[in-house]
Parts: sequence; structure tokens; C-alpha cells
Amino acid sequence: MPLPFLSPSDSVEASRSYVLVTGASMGIGEAFARAFARMGRNLVLVARSAALLQALGEELRRKHGIDVHVCVEDLSEPESPGRIYAFCASRQVEVELLVNCAGVSCAGDFDHLPLQRLHEIVMVNMVALANLTRLFACDMVQRKRGGVINVASLGGIQAVPGLGLYSATKSFVITLSEALHIELKEKGVAVVALCPGFIDTGFFSHSGHNAAALRLPVYGIDLVIKAALRGLKQNRMRVFPTALDKLLVFSQRMVTRQTAIRLAGFFAAVKRSH
Ligand SMILES: NC(=O)c1ccc[n+]([C@@H]2O[C@H](COP(=O)([O-])OP(=O)(O)OC[C@H]3O[C@@H](n4cnc5c(N)ncnc54)[C@H](OP(=O)(O)O)[C@@H]3O)[C@@H](O)[C@H]2O)c1
Repeated sequence: MPLPFLSPSDSVEASRSYVLVTGASMGIGEAFARAFARMGRNLVLVARSAALLQALGEELRRKHGIDVHVCVEDLSEPESPGRIYAFCASRQVEVELLVNCAGVSCAGDFDHLPLQRLHEIVMVNMVALANLTRLFACDMVQRKRGGVINVASLGGIQAVPGLGLYSATKSFVITLSEALHIELKEKGVAVVALCPGFIDTGFFSHSGHNAAALRLPVYGIDLVIKAALRGLKQNRMRVFPTALDKLLVFSQRMVTRQTAIRLAGFFAAVKRSH
């Protein structure tokens, strides 16, 4: 399967070929943007934080001589995926690789979750991701070339008490990506579900989750990016970045579903309301 965006030296019509990264303003999304910039890939950066995206875009243009478009959007708004697609179309941007990285969570018991936060989590983690995948995958299928990295989570493999809605949205991402991996493979498009464990970003403070309480190691971002690119190159369906992630997934076969879920809650150590 042709995945030309993974090689810096190929001769795709590089001027029109872009990698679109959502959640590019910080954390894992920013690291994806930096990695593709180093490979000489043009970028479309999407998130809400305009100043952060502009600064990143300027830096990457200057350092790597690539073209970078900044598209400031709130993915919790139902029309935002359509606007992002129109933004790209109006600039003759061909999205060859879509990285759906934007994601939000809210730590705590489900009965304490504010309704507005519930909507935001569902819209960003599931609706926008599915909608963007559909919009851009249609063009990739026509070109018989392209890829999608959907950032899920180890927390999507089983339920996580204290992170119930978040883990449910990540299960959705994994299930959708698995189906699309099979459906789109024969049409020339690679789809990967990236399932990291705990990664050192601002994610925990943004979601009110005390990172100091976690009962599993917190890894650096670089290994996630490397594993994702390797997984895409090998056209893997799911990518678990560390040996510990793989061990945790495998060990679920040895215990009951209830035990796996209780253990996930223990490792995540979310402060519960009683
Ligand atoms: N860190 C971890 O331990 C971990 C583990 C497994 C999976 N993940 C997943 O990895 C992805 C990236 O997380 P991260 O750790 O890099 O977290 P992060 O540092 O909090 O970054 C989240 C990104 O999502 C963007 N975003 C949030 N709400 C948005 C909205 N309404 N519209 C547009 N963009 C929005 C943010 O940008 P703005 O605020 O500028 O909009 C930011 O760029 C998420 O999908 C997360 O679920 C993280």
C-alpha cells in the first residue's frame, strides 16, 4: 500500500500534499506536527488556541521550509469538521494523512459530570473525529492513497471507573478505526488506532486528573510518535506504544472483565466522590 507521506525523499506532488493534525496546539498533536515538519511535510494545524498554532506554524515554516496552514476551530461545534474541509478545499490542500489527535476528558464520577462537559467530550472525541475521517477519507479513496491516525487510548480497551465517558469515547475510536482499517485497506487507505497509556502532557491538568496519583509509569511523547509512525508504515490496525501497554492488554485475557475494569480504575486512581 502506498504511504508516500512517510518518506522524506519521495516525489509526491509535495506542494499540494498535506498532513492535517487536530489538537496541534500542544501535547501529542504538537509533537506529531513537529515530527512531520522534520520529514518535510506540509501541514494543516487545527485547534482552538490561535496564538499557539500561529507561533508553531511560523517556527516550522522557518526551520523546515514547509507550507503550514493554521485553521482555528472548536471541534465541539457540530459544523466545525465541514468548515475544516472547506478551508482545505479553498486552498487546494490535499490531505494525504489525517491525524485525529484532539481529545478531552473530565476526571470524576459520571453523576458529577456537568452536562456541557459531557457534550464537549462526545463531540470532540467521537463526532468530530468520525466526521473528519469520513470527509477526508472519501478523497483519499478517490486518490487510492492516504492514511488516518486516530488517537484513542489504552483506556478505550476496557471501561475505566472515574473516567467512564472518556473511556467509552475511546472504545468508540478503537472500534470505528478497526472497521475502517479493514474497509479502507483494499481502497489504498491505511487507518490506525493509536492506544497510548499515560503520557506526559498537560492532559491531566486539563481534565482535573491528579497525575501524581497515577499507579502506572508516565511515558514521554516521543515514543508515542515513533510507535505511531512505525504502526502506520506497517499498516497496523492498533498500536500500543510500550511493552507495558502490550502486557496490560494481553493480561486481560487472564482475568475476568470485572477484574480488568477494577484494575484499570486502580491504575488511573481518579479521586472519586462518595
Ligand atoms: N496524555 C495522555 O496520557 C494520553 C493517553 C492516551 C490518549 N491520549 C489522547 O491523546 C490525544 C492528545 O492528548 P494530549 O495528551 O496531547 O492532551 P492535551 O495536551 O490536553 O492536548 C489536547 C489537544 O486537543 C485540543 N482540543 C481540545 N478541545 C478541543 C476543541 N474543542 N476543539 C479543537 N481542539 C481541541 C487542544 O487544543 P486547544 O485547547 O488549543 O483547542 C490540544 O491541542 C487526546 O485524544 C487524548 O485523549 C492522551
